[in-house]
Amino acid sequence: MKQNLTRKILASHLAKPSDMVFGEEIFLKVDQTLTHDINAVMTYLAFEAIGLDRTQVETSVSYLDHNLLYLDYKTPDDHIYLQSVAKKYGVYVSRPGNGIMHAVHVARFGVPGKLSMGGDSHTPHGGAIGMLCIGAGGMDIATAMTGVPMRLKMPQVIRVNLTGTLRPGCSAKDVILEMLRRISVKGGLGKVYEYVGPGAEALEVDDRVTIANMGAEMGATSSIFPADKQVRKYLKAQGREEDYIELLPDENCEYDGEMEVNLSELEPLAACPHQPDRVTAIREIEKKPVQQVMIGSCTNGNYKDIARAALVFKGHHVHEDVSCTCAISTKQIYKQLLHDGYIDVLLDAGVRLLELACGPCTSIGQSPATEAISVRTTNRNFRGRGGNPNASVYLVSPESAAATAIAGVLTTAEEIMGQEVSVLGTVEAPERYPVDDSMIIRPLSPEEASKVEVVRGPDIAPLPVPDAPMKHLKCRVSLKAGDNVTTDDITPASAEFSSMRSNIPLMSRYCYYRYDPDFAVRARAMGKSIIIGGENYGQGSSREHAAITPMYLGVKAVIAKGIARIHKGNLVNHGVVPLLFENPADYDEIDQMDELEIEHFPEQLRSKEVVVKNVTKGTVFKTVLDVTDSEQEAVLCGGQLRYLKHQLKQETAIQ
Ligand code: F3S
Repeated sequence: MKQNLTRKILASHLAKPSDMVFGEEIFLKVDQTLTHDINAVMTYLAFEAIGLDRTQVETSVSYLDHNLLYLDYKTPDDHIYLQSVAKKYGVYVSRPGNGIMHAVHVARFGVPGKLSMGGDSHTPHGGAIGMLCIGAGGMDIATAMTGVPMRLKMPQVIRVNLTGTLRPGCSAKDVILEMLRRISVKGGLGKVYEYVGPGAEALEVDDRVTIANMGAEMGATSSIFPADKQVRKYLKAQGREEDYIELLPDENCEYDGEMEVNLSELEPLAACPHQPDRVTAIREIEKKPVQQVMIGSCTNGNYKDIARAALVFKGHHVHEDVSCTCAISTKQIYKQLLHDGYIDVLLDAGVRLLELACGPCTSIGQSPATEAISVRTTNRNFRGRGGNPNASVYLVSPESAAATAIAGVLTTAEEIMGQEVSVLGTVEAPERYPVDDSMIIRPLSPEEASKVEVVRGPDIAPLPVPDAPMKHLKCRVSLKAGDNVTTDDITPASAEFSSMRSNIPLMSRYCYYRYDPDFAVRARAMGKSIIIGGENYGQGSSREHAAITPMYLGVKAVIAKGIARIHKGNLVNHGVVPLLFENPADYDEIDQMDELEIEHFPEQLRSKEVVVKNVTKGTVFKTVLDVTDSEQEAVLCGGQLRYLKHQLKQETAIQ
């Protein structure tokens, strides 16, 4: 049977036979795992608790890349723990200064046809080279490292036919912003977007990564490009041509849906505050003063991104009222830009070069001013994501960001460069990167690893383990949340909070701290409670702390109109039951502090239909446990850690 690329990779990774019918649970052998420093402590604590002595996947990499500010002892303590635990369990470490995880991973570890699972929602970045890459919660990564197959609801595969050619001044960022404009932040749920056609063939890997990366903003399971001559060129430039295999969709294969984007029709776009899908042409946006411009991040910190931004800056200077920073994504890209003279151009223009790290993208430094406008090339602009909930963040391409930094108002490259904008279309990725893996620590042999002592600083608290669902749950609603609650709303990002992520008792005090400052105290006092959510609850990052901290505060279930995929998995993993309203209108009949009652809770969970009484209002409504069968097992055990231990115990007993 003729197959699209996604089905080919899924079929070659099936751990149990399957017809791969949309919506069915499939089990996949994972080749690679990746984690980053501000979420990973929980992953490795869970892996330690499971009790195996070495990662069971081909390649596991721990990236120390998000929080390099070391504002207090907690972050270096985390990094020392992560380095030592990696040595103990056969995991590679990419040291601070080597670069941002997705960019380093695709450059140094990515192989077409492989399946990777990353503890970060932008893991699909690697889809640019014909890999299938899926973001997940930290506990899922720990599970994959035990060799247990990844469970996934079979996605639909959507063919995106790219035609035409990008105009100079437009780039891959405008392609994905156009996709977001059409599809919205939840329209991609349960889908993989496969980019093909003449427009896709012409895009270099540097361009493709931006599109694959930001598919996460559509809620997509993943995004992928074929492994073709562009991928060969990229891997050759990385000194890894031997890792290349051609991997294309079969001619005339079937897809579950199709769409077309004509690149020639695109113009420079911006995602307006505070959602990545609020996309408008820059020329239509009112020209208000911009206080901050940030160029770079995993999404747009590539060689071509920064080189094109530098060409816009050539002969210009950053506006005196603008603070313009640049976070290049890897050390090798930085060195190549230095070699080609682009770093000089940026410095001459007054751009402030930051560390090779996520930093401002996840609110670690460079907060915008109060009520300010910040223009960024990052992938998210939820309220507060930039570090200041009062600021307004616009998302644009690097060339538009550079033009904006010069003009002091939202501007396109063409407005600054006139006809010379055509030079931007001539920038190509390097033939050969200055590859240097000295910042990657390789795993030790099993014998050497067995002698390693894991170093735990005083802030690294054990992973809290939830209880199994109560037989009879009667408790109040501790929070009634609206639509599109993000994981940033539940557990804010910033240097201060990021360094608390290894200590759940401490971090739980700040749960929902910006959204509802009294939530943590209220939920704690209730002992046990339920959260009511609207549409797309838990959208955004893969941060599992957004599930662990409510669990620690006694939240037993979330009942919502819709729950984002990764967050739902995190709730399951950490013993919070995710339920969906059967009739979304029932949401309107519930108030915060109402008392809810669920009788025979485990039995009802077994049927996946749960009837809830609203004791306060004297009403009854139905909910659904919309999870796969194996997730249901984890729910009934009280989370993934208990489930895995139970499984391993059973296996040992059988042996
Ligand atoms: Fe880092 Fe932002 Fe990407 S936090 S991994 S640069 S989305």
